Parts: sequence; C-alpha cells; structure tokens
Amino acid sequence: MMERYNPVSIALHWLIALLIFGAFPLGLYMADLPLSPQKLQYYSWHKWAGVTIFLLVLIRILWRIGHKPPAPVPMPRWQRQASDAVHYMLYAFMIVIPLSGWLLSSAKGMQTVWFGVLPLPDLVGKNKELGETLHELHEMLNYGMLLLFGLHVAAALKHQFIDKDHLLSRMNPFART
Ligand code: HEM
Ligand code: HEM
Repeated sequence: MMERYNPVSIALHWLIALLIFGAFPLGLYMADLPLSPQKLQYYSWHKWAGVTIFLLVLIRILWRIGHKPPAPVPMPRWQRQASDAVHYMLYAFMIVIPLSGWLLSSAKGMQTVWFGVLPLPDLVGKNKELGETLHELHEMLNYGMLLLFGLHVAAALKHQFIDKDHLLSRMNPFART
C-alpha cells in the first residue's frame, strides 16, 4: 500500500508551486521593462501573488507541524538527510523571499496594497540605497531557491524513474491508493 501526504498538504504544495511558477518569471520580466503603467500593473500582480504565497506558506508550515508526513521511502541515510535539508531550506526560502520583497518595496517607497484593498505597513522608511541592496538580496535569494528547486525535481524524478519507488505518487493528487 502506497502511503501519501494528506490532501491538504498536497493541495498546498501544488497551489504554492503554481503561484511560484507564475511570480518568478513575472518578476524577471517586469524588472527589465521601461517605466509604464503596464509595468506598475505587473509589479502589483507580482506583489499580490508574493504576499499570497507568504500567507499560504505560513498556513502550510502550521499544518505540517500538526500532520506528520508519510514515513520516508527506503533510501541511504545521507539521501534522507539531504532531502530533509533541502525541504527545510525550500521552506526557509518561501518565507524570506516574500519578506525581502516586502522590505524592498517599502525601501523603494512603493507600498504594497494586497489585491488593491489591504495596505501592508511599510517595514522600513524610504531609502534608495537600501532599496537597491534589498532588490539584489531578493534576486539572489530567488536564484538560491531555483537551484534547490532543480535538485528537488531531479531527486523526485530519480526516485520515480530510476529507483521506481513511486515517490511522486505520495504528492500526486490523482494517484490511487
Ligand atoms: C515567493 C514569492 C516571490 C518570488 C518567487 C519572487 C521572485 C522575484 C523575481 C525572480 C524577481 C526579479 C529580480 C530581478 O531580476 O531583478 C522579483 C522582483 C521583485 N519582487 Fe519578487 N518575488 C516574490 C515575492 C515578492 C513579494 C511578496 C514582493 C513585495 C511585496 C515582491 C516584490 C518585488 C519587486 C518590487 C521586484 C522588482 C524590484 C525592482 O525592479 O525594483 N516580490 N521577484
Ligand atoms: C514540478 C515541480 C515539483 C515536483 C515534481 C515536486 C515533487 C515533490 C514530491 C514528490 C514531494 C514528496 C517527497 C517525499 O515523498 O518525501 C515533494 C515535497 C516537497 N516539495 Fe515539491 N515538487 C515540485 C515543486 C516544488 C516547489 C516549487 C517547491 C517550493 C519552492 C517545493 C517544495 C517542497 C517541499 C518543502 C516538500 C516537503 C514536504 C514536507 O514533507 O513538508 N516543491 N515535492
């Protein structure tokens, strides 16, 4: 019998992944556009998506604390430790990336108004230099997460197709138990 993650964990994993797959390329694209109303619109969408990710990740972590994942599939100890480490770091990135985005928006003097309705407090005062530094930090953190994401997917595919241990089914909302 195949043990799986619970439905809430599966739903949050994929919902958050989809939002990141949207917010990441949008961030790269919008940052290079010349100033225009269109650009500012993209910035708003990016920030709304990012804040949504932040909230969903907080819920996900609380849920995860209360709900143990299925027992790990058989693998050497170092792989088990590596997977735990990568999962922890992915959670950490999903927290600090939105926070750095929020901070950088504050420093650049562009307040975040979630879905145009809920204004988030500016965490720091307007400061052009700090804004640039935080922008670089936001960018670097994103490339760090991208790197780990590459490892994460490579490992998942290796389990599925080389070890043939059905690891993907554990996170597959459509898998049959
Ligand atoms: C997990 C969520 C997020 C991801 C994956 C993400 C990803 C990115 C990426 C890849 C860039 C392009 C960096 C560059 O090449 O310059 C970017 C830029 C940016 N992000 Fe995010 N971001 C996230 C959350 C947020 C949040 C929550 C905010 C603000 C509330 C935010 C605000 C910004 C801003 C303002 C820029 C453009 C900076 C500039 O051009 O001055 N981001 N983001
Ligand atoms: C095509 C993309 C993806 C695939 C195929 C995938 C696959 C998986 C699978 C199979 C698991 C379960 C591992 C196990 O059974 O031990 C998992 C867990 C996890 N994934 Fe993904 N994933 C993807 C995207 C992402 C993204 C974008 C993130 C975040 C940036 C992410 C973060 C996580 C985390 C943190 C866990 C650990 C869950 C826990 O035990 O708390 N995944 N993923």
